[in-house]
Amino acid sequence: MQRSLVLGCGAYLPERVVTNDELAQKVDTSDEWIVKRTGIRERHIAAEGELTSHLAVNAARDAMARAGVAADEIDLVIVATSTPDNTFPATAARVQAALEIRRGAAFDVQAVCAGFIYALSVADNMIRLGQAKTALVIGAEVFSRILDWDDRGTCILFGDGAGAMVLRGVENGTDNAARGVLSTHIYSDGRYYDMLYVDGGPGSTGTAGVLRMEGKEVFRHAVNRMAESIETALTHNNLTLDDIDWLVPHQANIRIIESIGRRLRLSLDNVVVTVDMQANTSAATIPLALTQAQNDGRLKSGNLVALSALGGGFSWGSALLRW
Ligand code: UT7
Repeated sequence: MQRSLVLGCGAYLPERVVTNDELAQKVDTSDEWIVKRTGIRERHIAAEGELTSHLAVNAARDAMARAGVAADEIDLVIVATSTPDNTFPATAARVQAALEIRRGAAFDVQAVCAGFIYALSVADNMIRLGQAKTALVIGAEVFSRILDWDDRGTCILFGDGAGAMVLRGVENGTDNAARGVLSTHIYSDGRYYDMLYVDGGPGSTGTAGVLRMEGKEVFRHAVNRMAESIETALTHNNLTLDDIDWLVPHQANIRIIESIGRRLRLSLDNVVVTVDMQANTSAATIPLALTQAQNDGRLKSGNLVALSALGGGFSWGSALLRW
C-alpha cells in the first residue's frame, strides 16, 4: 500500500494589506473590537483582476520549488475553493495549464473552509489506491469578492490567499511512526446549510450573492466538531493528545483556536497561528499556516501534525500527518 508523503508546501498572499483601521473608515468598527473578538489585525486583499487561479498558481510554484518536483511529475491537481474563477471549468484546469502539467486529472473541491482537508483526503485516497503518484493539493480563495462590505459582522473576518502542498506516493510502511499522511476524516451535516452561505452566486440561482453567517452558531460548532474530529483521528491511529507536536487548525478566530486548544489540553505554543496577519482565507488557511511553520523551521521531520477545519455546509474534518 502506498502512503502519501508531504514533499513540500508553498504559499502566496496578494500584495495589498488592509488593516483594521482602514476597515474602520468604511464600516462602524474599530481595531480594538476586531482584535479582541477575533485576533485579526490585518488581511491581504487581491488586486483588481487578480483571480483565484493566479493565487493558486503562485502558491503551487512555491510548493513545487520547495518539493523539488517538476510539472511533468505531477499527475493530479486538486484546487479547494469556493471562489472559482468561473462557474466552470474547474479552476484546477486553469492551474494545470498555467503550470504546463500535461497529464492526469485536475478538478476542484468545494467544502468552503474545510476544503483543504477534503482535497487532501481525496488526494491521499487516490494515492493510496495507486490512481495518482504525485499530487498538487491547493487551497485558494478570493473571499473579498463575495463579501458584503457594508456588513461589519462579516467583512472584517476574511482575507485572500493561497497555499499548496505536494504529495507523493511511497512505500513507507503502515505504522504511525512512519512519515506521511496517517489518516483523514471528513464529515458534513447539511441541516446547517443556512448558518453560513452565499445568498446567490454562480449556479442554479442565477444571481450574484454575498456571504451570510450566523456567527455564534458557527463558532460553537467549529470548536466542538474540530476538536472531536482530532480526537477521532488520534483514536483511529492509536495515538493520544500527548503525541501531537503541532496543531494547525483552520484560522477563523483566535478565540475558536484557543477554545480548541483548551479542550485538547494543548498549549498555544504548539499551535500554528496566522489569523492575526492573514484573517480567514477559507480553504487556504491550513496550507498557508503549514507553509509558515515549514519555512520558519517549526515543523521537524517526524513531528505529528494535526489539521482540522470546519466551514459552510457544515463541512468539517481532520488529518494527521507525520511530517
Ligand atoms: O471559517 C468559518 C467561518 N466563520 C467563523 O468561524 C466565524 C465564527 N464566529 C465568530 O468568529 C464570531 O461569532 C464573530 C467574530 C463573527 C462575532 O463575535 P461575537 O463575539 O459572536 O459577537 P456578536 O456577533 O455576538 O456581536 C456582539 C456585538 C453586537 O452588538 P450588540 O448587539 O451587543 O450591541 C454586534 O452588533 O458586537 C457587534 N459587532 C461589532 N462591533 C464592532 C459585530 N461585529 C462588529 C464589528 N465591530 N466588526
